[in-house]
Amino acid sequence: MIQRLNELKQTALRELEAVNDAANLESWRVRYLGRKSELTNMLRGLAELPIEERKSAGALANQIKNELAAVLDQKTESLKTAGRQQILNTSEAAAARSDITLPGRPLPAGRIHPISETFNEICDIFVSLGFQIVESNDVELDYYNFEALNIPAEHPSRDDMNSFWVDYENERGQRTMVMRTHTTNVTARTVATMKPPIRVIEPGKVYRYEATDATHLTMFHQVDGLAVDKGITMADLKGVFFDFCRRFYGEGRRVRFRPDYFPFVEPGVEVAVECTICHGSGCRLCGNSGWIELGGAGMVHPKVLERGGIDPNEYTGFAFGFGVDRAPMLRYGIDDLRLFFGNDLRFLRQL
Ligand code: DAH
Repeated sequence: MIQRLNELKQTALRELEAVNDAANLESWRVRYLGRKSELTNMLRGLAELPIEERKSAGALANQIKNELAAVLDQKTESLKTAGRQQILNTSEAAAARSDITLPGRPLPAGRIHPISETFNEICDIFVSLGFQIVESNDVELDYYNFEALNIPAEHPSRDDMNSFWVDYENERGQRTMVMRTHTTNVTARTVATMKPPIRVIEPGKVYRYEATDATHLTMFHQVDGLAVDKGITMADLKGVFFDFCRRFYGEGRRVRFRPDYFPFVEPGVEVAVECTICHGSGCRLCGNSGWIELGGAGMVHPKVLERGGIDPNEYTGFAFGFGVDRAPMLRYGIDDLRLFFGNDLRFLRQL
């Protein structure tokens, strides 16, 4: 038996030399160390041997078993390493191989467009004051853009807003669709669809047929706002607007209200904030006036509420609307609005 054990060991080692993949290694393991292998059988048969032989054969059999298990482990390891090496050596793998010692490559990161950023900041402030964001279509019915806002067909204030009419006529041959000329259209829609108490902020794109220059584009951005409830007064408008201006333009900023006319509010005001550059002393930016005009505001005209189905004897409301594009121009010191929309990434990335 001793002799057979030694022979078995020699053959096993010889055969292992020739093994060069995982499948062959596994069949080698089954053959020499498996439950039905000769070695296992011999270990099992030890009990039947005379005591003397049992001792020496038993010791040798166990030693061989341990040796074979050890070389199996070694071989498994070396095949793994060889396999890895082989993968790394193929040309495809070489191309994908990474050298983790190289300095990192920054991925180009997108960023929020300065106009969107401004919208977000404005909306955040009003949302924190309890206003809700409402958006609407850029293509609007004549009714909501003008008619519902107290601007009838022949009203002179339509001239202020040189409109882009959409090539569409109703059955009576009237052009009824327009690219909205202000976000106040959302105010008209809101009074028609929501019930008081109403507090909404209405950001969006607006369109006017104008000659393009550094501060005028045919498409620009506005935010309108509206609050309707019992007992709302001009003092609420001022409170909200002053708070907004301080938070958006900076603490201690003065805000100016001057009488103005807009068909959808009565009384109406023009709103301006102290120049962010010269703080009111006058500079090139504010045209030496010390003030930057933001837009308009006022108490919602009773007729506008009435058209929307809200009783003006019971409810009052304030509304405001202002341009958005000026703020990022001031903040980043940009003197040409067209740059924001030229899609030149070199410009947008630096902001
Ligand atoms: N829609 C006006 C414009 O584009 C601005 C405006 C004035 C909006 C007064 C308002 C308002 O809501 O109350 O010039």
